[in-house]
Amino acid sequence: MKKIVIASENQGKIEEIRPHLAHAGFEVYSMADFDVPPVDETGTTLLENALIKARALKNVTNFMVLADDSGLMVEALGGKPGVYSSRYAKHGDDDANNQKLLTNMADKNNRFAQFKTVIVIIDQDDKEYVFEGELSGYIHTVLEGEHGFGYDPLFIPVGYHKTLASLPPSVKTRISHRKQALDQVLVFLRQRG
Ligand code: IMP
Repeated sequence: MKKIVIASENQGKIEEIRPHLAHAGFEVYSMADFDVPPVDETGTTLLENALIKARALKNVTNFMVLADDSGLMVEALGGKPGVYSSRYAKHGDDDANNQKLLTNMADKNNRFAQFKTVIVIIDQDDKEYVFEGELSGYIHTVLEGEHGFGYDPLFIPVGYHKTLASLPPSVKTRISHRKQALDQVLVFLRQRG
């Protein structure tokens, strides 16, 4: 059976991706199954960070590897928080990050923003492939909703009138930036056979 390793220790993310890869005929492993030295995500773009994670994992396995990196790009803030999304105010503190975003957007009329995901695959021959997904929307003026994580309570997708955190989780699963990127990965993997 074909084998693939996901370069993440985030169990939620792994469980989101695993069924799709399994359905495409892969035996799925995570970074926890390997002895990978800690990596610093020092890149200045999502692609650089995804490559850093994928290459670090590829150093310790011959299996195909998959790494992703995501972020929120807000037009009026010149693309911030972008690659620094998880540590905009404080690392891993969604409430503090959302409050900082609200404060910085207080005087902005242009509320357009995009979630972006970059997925890097490195195959058994060390060839690197890049896939991208995005979700466009607007930054709301107040926090709304309980679902999801990160900036979901502030993000209203184009074509909707509620934040991602207020919409049913099944909607996010269908339209998310991660899903768009993953769909391309699955097409690629199926075509390779
Ligand atoms: P990661 O690369 O998927 O871990 O995402 C990095 C950061 O981007 C997260 O910690 C969140 O702050 C933000 N982010 C990425 N995807 C989403 C999402 O689907 N909803 C809300 N925030 C997200």
